[in-house]
Amino acid sequence: MSVDTAAEVAQRFTRLYGSEPEGVWAAPGRVNLIGEHTDYNDGFVMPFALPHTAVAAVTPRTDGVLRLHSADVEGGVVELRVADLTPQADRNWTAYPSGVVWALREAGHEVTGADIHLASTVPAGAGLSSSAALEVVVALALNDLFGLGLRGWQLARLCQRAENVYVGAPVGIMDQTASACCQAGHALFLDTRDLAQRQVPFDLAAEGLRLLVVDTQVKHAHSEGEYGKRRAGCEKGAALLGVNALRDIPYEELDAALERLGDEAEVRRLVRHVVTEDQRVERVVALLEAGEPRAIGPVLVEGHVSLRDDFRISCPELDLVVDTALEAGALGARMTGGGFGGSAIVLVEAADVEAVGKAVQAAFAAAGCTAPRIFEAVPAAGARRLS
Ligand code: GLA
Repeated sequence: MSVDTAAEVAQRFTRLYGSEPEGVWAAPGRVNLIGEHTDYNDGFVMPFALPHTAVAAVTPRTDGVLRLHSADVEGGVVELRVADLTPQADRNWTAYPSGVVWALREAGHEVTGADIHLASTVPAGAGLSSSAALEVVVALALNDLFGLGLRGWQLARLCQRAENVYVGAPVGIMDQTASACCQAGHALFLDTRDLAQRQVPFDLAAEGLRLLVVDTQVKHAHSEGEYGKRRAGCEKGAALLGVNALRDIPYEELDAALERLGDEAEVRRLVRHVVTEDQRVERVVALLEAGEPRAIGPVLVEGHVSLRDDFRISCPELDLVVDTALEAGALGARMTGGGFGGSAIVLVEAADVEAVGKAVQAAFAAAGCTAPRIFEAVPAAGARRLS
């Protein structure tokens, strides 16, 4: 996001609300390199921030009024009262910023209103965390403006609470933490149990590699309900195995755990995915820290197969990206994010970017699918103040 764009967002704020904003903030979307559907199992994830951001121009208010406007949604300024914010009453985009105000106030922080203008370049519905970016940018702005002194991980927890309770989506903590805490040039190795973090250098360009994001532009209708079902299935698995969360099943004890689950076929598949996926995150971290980025390719593919066959959240378009990219010479590929559509990531040699991109486009055209959007992802900065 260039300074010019921050200035444009500030100008639009001024036109809307009649005075200049007190500041402008940005928070990025993310892609997840590895560690899918592990975050609500207290496991490991490894996302990195995209250059695409949600930007907020904000001025605080003291009269209890919250005014919201988005450059990306038709319609004018929405005016609310902070004291009236009620969980799950709002089904529009405004639930994300309002939910953050609600969560901050519920946690005892004195947030007495604000004028907010938002604009985002994070593709919506593409599994790239456009909602988390909106939440985190508002949380960071209010944290600064009301002098709350909260750290990035604390803002992430409050944003997750906004999404779980206020919006009503049972998501984990990965997306909000990625948006709040990622650093340019690094992937974030995050333990979602205690939010312990390690920034792992992830400069693919220096190694002659590229990571492509392929947005399939599909979103299968049942995705939200299915997310909740997978989460419930994982919780059932943990209960049957007598652990707090599936994170507590060591990889070495997976076979014994599966045996104990007997004929619970579906739970067995979910447990196998989560336990092997946690181990894949640890393998990817070890390979990157050992300076062997090419070797993560097969681990990404294993992750995709596990999400497709055990967790069962892929879809034909995501499988088509992965299969086609691998046939065209990619080192690795997998779906990323919640599943049932959205995006896949593809690890390629720099020299193969064009050939792999063309092969994926051609395969989509041949299958009669909407053309996917393909772009290169370079690990970008986490949430920050722009002006
Ligand atoms: C969505 C959720 C995250 C995480 C991923 C799957 O992005 O918001 O919390 O569960 O799905 O890894």
